[in-house]
Amino acid sequence: MTIDFRTALEKRRSIYSISKESPISDDKIIEIVNHSVKYTPSAFNSQSARVVILFGEEHNKLWDITMEALRKIVSAENFPQTESKINSFKAGYGSVLFFEDESVIKGLQAQFSSYKDNFPIWSQQSSGMLQFNVWTSLELEGLGASLQHYNPLIDDDVREQWKIPAHWRLVAQLPFGKPTEAAGDKNFIPVEDRVKVFR
Ligand SMILES: Cc1cc2nc3c(=O)[nH]c(=O)nc-3n(C[C@H](O)[C@H](O)[C@H](O)COP(=O)(O)O)c2cc1C
Repeated sequence: MTIDFRTALEKRRSIYSISKESPISDDKIIEIVNHSVKYTPSAFNSQSARVVILFGEEHNKLWDITMEALRKIVSAENFPQTESKINSFKAGYGSVLFFEDESVIKGLQAQFSSYKDNFPIWSQQSSGMLQFNVWTSLELEGLGASLQHYNPLIDDDVREQWKIPAHWRLVAQLPFGKPTEAAGDKNFIPVEDRVKVFR
């Protein structure tokens, strides 16, 4: 879909009600993710982002893993709420997992020691840009998504399940699917309170 950039920024929302349908093919979803991975900037062009795309049963497994991990730490009393939340993500069509490759970050730290402390921060910032690009691109194609953070709780199980290299650190999860409910209202504090202009 072709839409101007500003409208795309406005249209991206957190969509929590999603189904196991997609208005676009899996190949198109993969192409969208690949495009964002390729063109999202990274510090020193380090390209430290790594991504896993899960469809169908593989997507279901992610949310089963998350459910079982949470079952171990959430009280029985509070678990029904947790269960319905995780089931709402499992109800989606797929998930994108965002990782950062720590071996790339360590390499940069060794090479450019004066920026040593900045590389992990820049890596997270670049991952955030990628997450936003994927999220917005999927939304433009009629998919709804939300950003989740069950790392580090699920890291070991995810690594084992999909044979993820040990140096890939999980940063975020983006479950997506056909929206079954629109996003809720969103409040905005005045932009004038957030932006200073000098001229
Ligand atoms: C860095 C970041 C972390 C977030 N983490 C979560 C999260 O763990 N779970 C969640 O449901 N939403 C998460 N969100 C979504 C925000 O709550 C949401 O973007 C915000 O309330 C604005 O709503 P909108 O996405 O509909 O515009 C996160 C968003 C950002 C940018």
